[in-house]
Parts: sequence; structure tokens; C-alpha cells
Amino acid sequence: MRVGVKREQRAGERRVAATPETVQQLTALGLDVAVECGAGNEAGFPDAAFAQAGATVVPELPPESLDVLLHVRPLTPEIAARLRPGTITVGLGSPASELSTVRALADAGVTSFALELVPRISRAQSMDALSSQSLVSGYRAVLEAALRYPRFFPLYMTAAGTIPPARVLVLGAGVAGLQAIGTAKRLGARVSANDIRAASADEVASMGGTFIHLDLDSRNADAGTEGSGGYARELGEDRAERQRALLAPHVAAADVLITTAAIPGRAAPLLVTLDMVAGMRAGSVVVDLAAESGGNVEGVIAGRDIEVPVDGGSVTLVGLQDAASAMPSDASRLFAKNVANLLALMTTDGQVSPDFDDEVVAGACLTHGGSVRHAGTSEAMEALK
Ligand code: NAI
Repeated sequence: MRVGVKREQRAGERRVAATPETVQQLTALGLDVAVECGAGNEAGFPDAAFAQAGATVVPELPPESLDVLLHVRPLTPEIAARLRPGTITVGLGSPASELSTVRALADAGVTSFALELVPRISRAQSMDALSSQSLVSGYRAVLEAALRYPRFFPLYMTAAGTIPPARVLVLGAGVAGLQAIGTAKRLGARVSANDIRAASADEVASMGGTFIHLDLDSRNADAGTEGSGGYARELGEDRAERQRALLAPHVAAADVLITTAAIPGRAAPLLVTLDMVAGMRAGSVVVDLAAESGGNVEGVIAGRDIEVPVDGGSVTLVGLQDAASAMPSDASRLFAKNVANLLALMTTDGQVSPDFDDEVVAGACLTHGGSVRHAGTSEAMEALK
């Protein structure tokens, strides 16, 4: 079967869905891999490296010529429409926001797999692109903050005087947040963090951070903050407001604030108002990793730096965008492994043949046989009719 890797279509996307290493993995499974010229250039994987790994490198890869298409960003509706019935696609699907592509995939009879839908169970960890890319973006968020922060992160005791360490506050301690904590710690900052999932307190401590416990509802200690699959559940507005009030003094005391909070399928929760930012010291930096999904910080704009005036200067509010794509080489290395591992799960004797009795395969499937298999996406599409 012919597996294709096209150049990514979205402007600014620098990652690639296969690397020479995964080409070897896929060819060993009996698959023929074809890579479009230049597909890996921006991620540091030149055509020659793909060819040496056993791929055919071609100037253009018509979608209709493929049995399997691997991609990073969701396909465009135009490419989806050109795929033959029965073609298999593996990559990010962003099913909640790319409904026209989902419709085109279903109409074309494509069997598409969206990596965001891979169930978060132990067996599927090697296919979990949300985790692998969050690792990259959590790391990157801290570097972006450090470069904008006009002072050191570590403590320095020198003959010319002592420089105190930066105080870094991380809100949302999932995969990205924990990486941010670890990275800021390694740079020598003093790190604290908050998350609404009870389990995160130990995880924060294991990365060297101090967990900030907030009493969100003293009258109802059972009001759960944990939803299914280890994810957080959205707070009601009362508790969200209480969380913001309790966080305010911690935000004011921070030199650097990194926010990563998310609720699957929902807009990012608002954790920090502009008033709270205005309480920070001049020169402080706020990096919002949730900017692309609405932002954890009021007023944030994805892809932009905003200077928020405060006493004596300003606070820099960074709407981080494409954070994983900003480190395309390692991000691609991990992403391509996630893709190849999912494809390998469905491949026997050189034939890709999804077994829908397997919960990972069934869970990750977005469209198949002309219909949308993922219930949430199908409901969203019905609601639009
Ligand atoms: P995510 O990207 O959906 O959310 C990031 C973090 O924001 C989460 O830790 C969430 O609890 C937190 N959050 C949401 N609302 C908040 C609020 N109002 N205030 C503060 N924090 C808030 O989550 P992510 O990083 O993808 O994973 C979260 C959890 O999912 C993990 O810690 C783990 O328990 C589970 N998971 C399980 C995996 C597995 O294979 N078993 C793999 C990856 C994650």
C-alpha cells in the first residue's frame, strides 16, 4: 500500500508527519512510503534523508494516488475531497473546529483518524500526540517567557551583589504545565502551580514545584473538579470567580505567569483578568498557552505580544501560537512516532486494515464508510443543519 506524506498546507506549520526513522518503521511493515519534495525541510529532515531511509521522494503527491495519507494539521476540504473512497488518513483532525473538512472526508468515503481522539489509556500512550506536543509547547512557553523577562531566572550570589530568583507561577498542571514547571525549575526559578484536579498536587511536587491549594468551595467539598479520563471538569461561574479571587495575590507576587488550563471540547477557562495582570510588577511576563482556544488571560490575542500598562512600566502579555511548531524538529520526531505507532497498530503483512473492535482504533476514528463515527463531532454537525 502507498503511504504519502505531503508538504503541510497551513502557513507557519513547520512540522512533518514522518521522519526518516518512521519511514524505516513503516517500510519494515511492508508499506511503500512516498514523501513530497521539501516536506521535512523546515523540521530539519531533508529529502535525501527520507530517500536514504527508503522513501520515494516525488515533486508532487496527488491525493488520489494514495492509500494512506499522513499529515500534521487537519487536511483542507479540497485535499480531503480528492481522496479515493477507502483511503486512510492519520493526523490531527481538530474535529470541533474543522467541520467542513470532516464533512469532505465523510463524503469522500475516507477512513480518517484524528490523533486528538486517541483514548488516553496506558496502551495508547505511544500514539498520544496531545501529550507529545504539549510537552514541546510547555517547554517552549518557558523559553519564550525567559527571553522577554528583563531579569535572570536563577539566583546569583556574586561579588557585585545578590540577584534573587524569578518567581514563576504555572496555572494548569497537565502535560504542558508540568513541562513548564520542570523547565522553569531547571532554569533556576522558584516555581509554584495550581490546578483544579486533586491528582495534580503530587505531580507538581514531583517536578519540583510548590502546589497552591485553593479552597474553591468550603461548603461543598465534594463538588468534583475531575471529569472522565483524568481530565478536569468545567467550574461553575461561582467557583471560577472564587478561583480568580484566590489566585489574585499569587498572580501579583509572580514575576512570570504561564497559563495552560484547558477543558476538553470547551473554550479555555478564564483564570486571570486584566485587573489581576495590572496588579503585577512592571517587567513581569505572562505567557498564555491557551491563547488559541480563547485564552486563560483576559485580553490575550493569539500570535501577539501586548503591553499592559502598570505602575512604573508594563507587563508583557504573550498569546502563544503554534508553540509546538516553533520547535519543529523534536516536535516532528515525537509526532511522527505517534502517527507511525497508530498506523502500525492497524497494519498486518503490508496491509492497513483497521480493526474497529480495538478501542484505540475505534476511539481515534473520525469518519468511516461515508459517515462521521465520532459522536461529539456528528452531534455538532447535526446542530448546524
Ligand atoms: P488539558 O490540556 O485538557 O488541560 C490542562 C490542565 O488544565 C489540566 O491539568 C486541567 O486539570 C487544568 N485545568 C482546567 N481547568 C482549570 C482551572 N480552572 N484552573 C486550573 N487548572 C485547570 O489536559 P492534559 O494536559 O492534556 O491532561 C490532563 C490530564 O489527563 C493529565 O494530567 C492526566 O491525568 C490525563 N492524561 C492521561 C494520559 C494517559 O495516557 N493515561 C495521557 C495524558 C494525560
